Order: sequence, then structure tokens, then C-alpha cells
Amino acid sequence: MPSDKVSSDDRERLIEAARAAAENAYAPYSQFRVGAAVLTGKGEIFTGCNVENASYGMTNCAERTAIFAAVAKSGPKLEIRAVAVINAKDVPCAPCGACRQVIYEFGPEAIIFFPSAQGWKEAHITELLPEGFRLQ
Ligand code: THU
Repeated sequence: MPSDKVSSDDRERLIEAARAAAENAYAPYSQFRVGAAVLTGKGEIFTGCNVENASYGMTNCAERTAIFAAVAKSGPKLEIRAVAVINAKDVPCAPCGACRQVIYEFGPEAIIFFPSAQGWKEAHITELLPEGFRLQ
């Protein structure tokens, strides 16, 4: 389903930014280097990579690193328009469940670009995370 909300220019910029971010990944345990880039409502791009830890559960995924960097830099009113995720092995890699929930918090209409078995896939966040959690 092609998006009318994210231009092909923005999509390419986002994917290239994610690819560059993957080079900074700290992944000595999995050797799986991931990069993510977030396009904000203001047209800015923030990037992140996965940062692993000897205590495996403390690992931070690339998507969450990018989102937390965006909030740290531009504040709590962050609006996510789109996210791209990529890995250095160029294998299929959709955002994990935890990252989907964090994307949804700031981007309930976000478009996600990720490599699938059929090539680049574009999905609305609610396709990836139906019934995302909201605190009422
Ligand atoms: N990883 C991400 O960075 N994003 C995802 O959406 C899935 C998994 C990372 C976490 C860990 O460092 C490595 O990939 C292997 O699971």
C-alpha cells in the first residue's frame, strides 16, 4: 500500500539515514547491526542504532534509540510521521513489538518502512500494532 503522506524523497532520505545509523550499532552479542530513522512532523530526521548489553535484556533497539534521541533533542511534543528500519545484513527485519508500541505513542498514523522477504515493505503502524495501548 503506497503512502500519500510520505514523499519518495523523504522515504529515500529516511532509508539512507537509517543505513548510516546502523554503522554505529553496538552489537557484539548478536552481530546484528540495526539502524532506524524517524521523520518528524516538522520534517526533521533523527536516527538511532541498537545498543546491546552483557545483561541481554537491557539492550535498546535502533527504533527506540532514534525515538528517544528525537525526544531528547526536540522535546515531548514529538510527532512521528514515518520510521525506516534497516540492518547491515539486509535481511527481513520488521520492528519488534516493544518498538511498535513506542512508535504508536508518538505516531498513531506513522508509516513504517522495513525490509521484508518480498523487498521493502510499507505499513501503517496500526497494521503492525492493532489495538495499541493508550492510557485512559
Ligand atoms: N533489534 C533492533 O534494533 N530492532 C528491532 O526491531 C529488532 C531487533 C536489535 C536488538 C538486538 O540488538 C538485535 O537486533 C538482535 O535481536
